[in-house]
Amino acid sequence: MTTATAIAHPNIAFIKYWGNRNPVLRLPENGSISMNLAALRTQTSVRFDASLKADSVLLNGVEANPAQAQRVSNFLDLLREPGGTPAAVESTNNFPSGAGIASSSSAFAALAVAASQAIGFGLDERGLSRLARWGSGSASRSVPPGFVEWFASDMDEGSFSKSIAPPEHWDLVDTIAVISEAHKATGSTEGHALAGTSPLQAARVAGAGQRLDECRAAIMSRDFERFAAVVEADCHLMHAVMMTSKPALHYWLPGSLVVMEAVRGWRQQGSEVCYTLDAGPNVHVLSSAKESAKLAKQVAELPGVLRVLQSGVGGATQLVNS
Ligand code: PMV
Repeated sequence: MTTATAIAHPNIAFIKYWGNRNPVLRLPENGSISMNLAALRTQTSVRFDASLKADSVLLNGVEANPAQAQRVSNFLDLLREPGGTPAAVESTNNFPSGAGIASSSSAFAALAVAASQAIGFGLDERGLSRLARWGSGSASRSVPPGFVEWFASDMDEGSFSKSIAPPEHWDLVDTIAVISEAHKATGSTEGHALAGTSPLQAARVAGAGQRLDECRAAIMSRDFERFAAVVEADCHLMHAVMMTSKPALHYWLPGSLVVMEAVRGWRQQGSEVCYTLDAGPNVHVLSSAKESAKLAKQVAELPGVLRVLQSGVGGATQLVNS
């Protein structure tokens, strides 16, 4: 087969990946844990076609910019012979890209699964998650279903992602407060390279093993209070590293802080709710399903919130009929 299409869900990390021990292989400094977001989808088709002069990349119906197109071509070069067959890649998201909803996670998960099928590689889930990692680290975590852990390693073979619980294990909901839909100033690839310039990165990485154990245990026992404490602590640690790197990276906007404060208040009043933010201003408000209908309204009413997206826990990246 020369054509294949895959659908992937972006994921939101509870324990964050920030900084690489090997930036080329995208081997992370520390392991991470996330959940896939069912309602958000990237659909990507890859067609290897010898009649094409060069790769072509369409993102949401528009020709990719040169940097994006180059990143896709570099990724496809991992699969084909030098000077191999060009490909036509078409990818669409049903959510805004580049603003803290990790679109690169679903983008490279879908691309890895579609391209390796189209070229005829029989990779298993572990192989596909390793391959996706080469495109974007967090993409590794969008390949398996549900709640997922990505392992840190010094070796390419050791750094893959695996499901720790299926989507139906815990009915968590991510209510995303969209604060800005603009593309972020500093993308995560450049951000990872700056992590080591922060004096706080070593401390963040040193404590990651303990936070991973805590988060895994909280998920397995569906203990929201325990989960909330470690998720917010880990988010604050990553943003502290960002804010203290050289140059400093500031992703929070006033609207982000409004949502964060409101969430802490609702939790004090007894709601099962907490937050996390990626490399962007949007706030991912995590809650149990019973809180989610009320939360969607409450979050939408906060000043600075442009709109709200909501999603439960999603499945694996899957091939679909082209
Ligand atoms: O996969 P990347 O290079 O886009 O990095 C993702 C980094 C964060 O979203 C900030 C954290 C994470 O673990 O997803």
